[in-house]
Amino acid sequence: MEIKTFDFKIHGDSRGKLVAIETLRDIPFEVKRCYYMWETTEGVTRGKHAHKKLEQVLICVHGKCKILMDDGHEKAVVELNDPSVGLHIKGLIWREMFDFSNDAVLMVLASDYYNEEDYIRNYEDFMKCVESGE
Ligand code: TYD
Repeated sequence: MEIKTFDFKIHGDSRGKLVAIETLRDIPFEVKRCYYMWETTEGVTRGKHAHKKLEQVLICVHGKCKILMDDGHEKAVVELNDPSVGLHIKGLIWREMFDFSNDAVLMVLASDYYNEEDYIRNYEDFMKCVESGE
């Protein structure tokens, strides 16, 4: 499976570091939604779903966590531990987020508004979509 990450430019100076992410310049879609999760309970796995159309970039802006991506044929795990790196998730990918450090803040930039109808929350349904090429 191809893993696509973005290395955002770090504007660093003696005051510290800063990353700016511009729509259609630093990431390939227009951001309609940003959300983030923190104080994730130890041992918890979040996500466990796929999206029909949504495109996302995941950035662990503090701490670290792992992302499992599964395209129905192959699985890959990526550790996010750098606020200047974004993981692109596009297409029919089952994703799970786990191994959050206590201080982890995982931010997600998304191409559309929250829409429960875009979710596939059941793994068997996901595999049916993969197999039918939907
Ligand atoms: P959920 O989909 O369970 O989160 P995750 O995929 O990270 O495990 O979402 C948790 C709750 O937050 C659920 O009630 C739906 C709500 N929610 C929104 O209202 N808007 C959003 O953009 C997201 C991602 C979730």
